[in-house]
Amino acid sequence: MTHESGTLPAEGVRSMFDRIAPVYDLMNRVMTVGLDQRWRRLTVRSVVAPGDRVLDACCGTGDLAVAARKAGANVVGLDFSGRMLERARSKDPEIEWIQGDLLELPFEDASFDAATVGFGVRNVADLEQGLAELRRVLRPGGRVGILEITRPRGPLRHFYRLWFEVLIPLAGKILPGGKAYTYLPASVRRFPGPEELAALMASNGFGEVGFRRLGGGIVALHTGTAR
Ligand SMILES: C[S@@+](CC[C@H](N)C(=O)[O-])C[C@H]1O[C@@H](n2cnc3c(N)ncnc32)[C@H](O)[C@@H]1O
Repeated sequence: MTHESGTLPAEGVRSMFDRIAPVYDLMNRVMTVGLDQRWRRLTVRSVVAPGDRVLDACCGTGDLAVAARKAGANVVGLDFSGRMLERARSKDPEIEWIQGDLLELPFEDASFDAATVGFGVRNVADLEQGLAELRRVLRPGGRVGILEITRPRGPLRHFYRLWFEVLIPLAGKILPGGKAYTYLPASVRRFPGPEELAALMASNGFGEVGFRRLGGGIVALHTGTAR
């Protein structure tokens, strides 16, 4: 299950997430030394207001959607992995969980006030199509928050390489179902850096695009407003 190029066809990505669903939350906590939930809350605070109708796309096991609901939003969580969604559903049965594809969102135009994607856009086969779909389902003025892993530039980069390219794939080999974590470093390597992602957002219908690096630069939170 090593995909050195970091590219997988959509079916490969979906079945990979089906397989890692049982260890996904634990791996998140371990990989980020518990910071991941703080980043999700920050994402929500950046783009979600109480009462908003919010789409959390690529919701996985649902942590970002749950954070948005705690902030007072009406949330729809969407993912194409049934196994990830099963876990999400067990966390909050009140959220509407939908199995579907970010690249063909099953929603009307302009039907959400805000959209979030946590650690999801890196995995989609057509990033620009994903951004265009998010833009389509947001009302004009609606906000998007995209949280994604990135590569640090500063002194952390050596530590990051050891952690991300050696230790995490190793942990993935030990944990049941975790072999897919060998895919993770390659998928980050091929993904555009924050400046490039910001430019893609701007060319796919978002204004007021900005990003901030978090966690010493291992993660970037991008925000924008649907034009
Ligand atoms: C790394 S997980 C992120 C889960 C969650 N958002 C979080 O914050 O932990 C990426 C998720 O994106 C989903 N995914 C990837 N491509 C997708 C697509 N085209 N449409 C819907 N879901 C997709 C996968 O099934 C997986 O659950």
